[in-house]
Amino acid sequence: MRNSPLPRLDASPGVRKQLLPYCRLQPGEIWTDPVRGHRVGCLDAADPHSIHRLMNAERAQLAIHDPPYNLAAFEFRSIKSFIDWCEKWISITESVLTTDSSLYIWIGADQNNGFQPLPDFMIMMRAHPFNTRSLVTMRNQRGYGTQKNWMAVRQELLYYIKGNPCFNVSAEYTDIPKILRGYYKKVNGKLTENVQRSHSNTIRAGNVWVDVQQVFYRMEENVSGCYAQKPFKSIERIIKASSNDSDLVIDFFSHSGTTLLASELLGRRCFTVDIDPIYAEITIRRLEHFRSSFRKGWQNGHPFQDEIPSFDLDDSIDPKDSHQKALI
Ligand SMILES: C[S@@+](CC[C@H](N)C(=O)[O-])C[C@H]1O[C@@H](n2cnc3c(N)ncnc32)[C@H](O)[C@@H]1O
Repeated sequence: MRNSPLPRLDASPGVRKQLLPYCRLQPGEIWTDPVRGHRVGCLDAADPHSIHRLMNAERAQLAIHDPPYNLAAFEFRSIKSFIDWCEKWISITESVLTTDSSLYIWIGADQNNGFQPLPDFMIMMRAHPFNTRSLVTMRNQRGYGTQKNWMAVRQELLYYIKGNPCFNVSAEYTDIPKILRGYYKKVNGKLTENVQRSHSNTIRAGNVWVDVQQVFYRMEENVSGCYAQKPFKSIERIIKASSNDSDLVIDFFSHSGTTLLASELLGRRCFTVDIDPIYAEITIRRLEHFRSSFRKGWQNGHPFQDEIPSFDLDDSIDPKDSHQKALI
């Protein structure tokens, strides 16, 4: 078994330099998957011209966006400039979604700074022709702020719709056993108990997700180097609920390529971009790796392990970072 994870790429300029020659996309370029027609661009989500090139006159039924949250782990901007930037890719998204479509956005709330940018983002969205549907909270297993505050363990996920899109939630059950008893309700005049009424022995997914494991280095889906990878299960849940077979899914902040991989597994096509050529390359490699190995990630290895089995690590790296995902 290999044990050569990549360090966090946002904190490792030296390692980035070693990886860049192996990235097939230059900024502005788009890769089209010869097998299923997915597309991956090394493009700026906020540039309408680039995204229209990516879409090639097609429209998507579902958008899942996971932008940088404007929290400490990323380059911090003023709230106004962050929201102005968000408004750009939201307007572009609106123009490339079908009449009946769904939009999900992962976003953070900084409890030490007015809970920005979540409320600002929500207010900005009111000026756009989307209807609010849900605010999902996903529980992380690790958190921060345990000494002087409640441990911060949540991830926020906003769900909006345009028109009247599908919502296949009856197919989406959690792994949590249905054990609540004594919850009676009359069905066709007959008093039934909760467990009797059930179509499943487990409970349906609601708007608080406690059953999704945060990605960490020992998981098969782990993509080392990626500091903000979303759990495959969370993206799979969204795609199953809010799209149908052969639909087109878009994601403007690809990073480790979770949306592309989940689209592949669920029989959807995906058009996705990342502004960084390394994450665009990782996205493509994750798909190719899955097709050749049926593995969703690299666990103890990394996406460039065939070309670069080991690295000259930067001095700046804390070794434990290679085993951690940031709380973003
Ligand atoms: C929070 S991560 C997304 C994580 C992703 N959902 C996953 O599961 O791996 C945000 C990504 O957005 C990318 N990004 C930042 N600004 C961008 C922009 N203007 N256009 C496209 N991508 C951008 C970053 O390079 C980073 O990879």
